[in-house]
Amino acid sequence: MSSPSDLPLLRVEKVSHAYSPETPVLAPVSFDVADGEFVCIVGTSGSGKSTLLRIIGGLVEAKAGAVWLAGALSTEPHPEIGFVFQKTNLMPWRTALENVLLPLELLGPITPTHRSQAMALLELVGLADSAHSFPAQLSGGMAQRLVLARALVRHPRLLLLDEPFGALDALTRERLNLELLRIQTSQQQTVVMVTHSINEAVFLGDRVLVLGEQPGRILAEIHVDLPRPRNLALMGSEKFGALATEIRRHIGLVEG
Ligand SMILES: Nc1ncnc2c1ncn2[C@@H]1O[C@H](COP(=O)(O)OP(=O)(O)OP(=O)(O)O)[C@@H](O)[C@H]1O
Ligand SMILES: [Mg+2]
Repeated sequence: MSSPSDLPLLRVEKVSHAYSPETPVLAPVSFDVADGEFVCIVGTSGSGKSTLLRIIGGLVEAKAGAVWLAGALSTEPHPEIGFVFQKTNLMPWRTALENVLLPLELLGPITPTHRSQAMALLELVGLADSAHSFPAQLSGGMAQRLVLARALVRHPRLLLLDEPFGALDALTRERLNLELLRIQTSQQQTVVMVTHSINEAVFLGDRVLVLGEQPGRILAEIHVDLPRPRNLALMGSEKFGALATEIRRHIGLVEG
């Protein structure tokens, strides 16, 4: 008999999708994510990565297949799932702190405990000094960290990240990758992250799923057996380079 701990936190089972009958966007896609695991999804533009993430988050209904969260069928937005979208969708008239509190406000009245939880999260993402700033007063990287704090405020068991750092410069992106790793380690957070950056996927992930296009399907699953904790120096290692090349080969960027 299986115990709940044997169950994957997330099971994506033969999920397929089409926005119109003549153009399938996702072929049946299946994979599991274990509790505490960090899974990255890479693939060319239009391969259905955001669609897949939205189906997992219950924001788009799959045409076929099922999404299971801790063994229970998941069909709509779930309080145990935090989502960071491809574009920041902060409320411009609310301060940083008020933006983080928003998901809690939807559940009921805000208490002093909620406020201190939100402040602790702002601290975690390095924004304690900007708690009373408005989004327009934040840099791009700060806004992304704020979105991350907001996604974490309900202590989601599963965090879905859709290219959270895609619009940022390379230096800010590297710094945020390190912060994300730190947060993920300290909270033992389960993460599924879509990224265009193969290096980012190898650096962060325990596993990388390579999605092929038209319709999107899993071409390869790469286990990233690099030691943790990870640091940026790892990117220069032979093993790191070999993993990145293997992924590029599956996407068709490297011959052989
Ligand atoms: N709401 C929608 N209605 C109709 N077609 C859509 C919709 N959203 C996405 N598509 C189409 O579905 C396909 C997959 O889109 P999706 O956004 O999932 O790709 P993606 O892999 O996330 O791309 P990118 O890397 O550019 O973000 C694309 O051909 C896109 O045009
Ligand atoms: Mg996308």
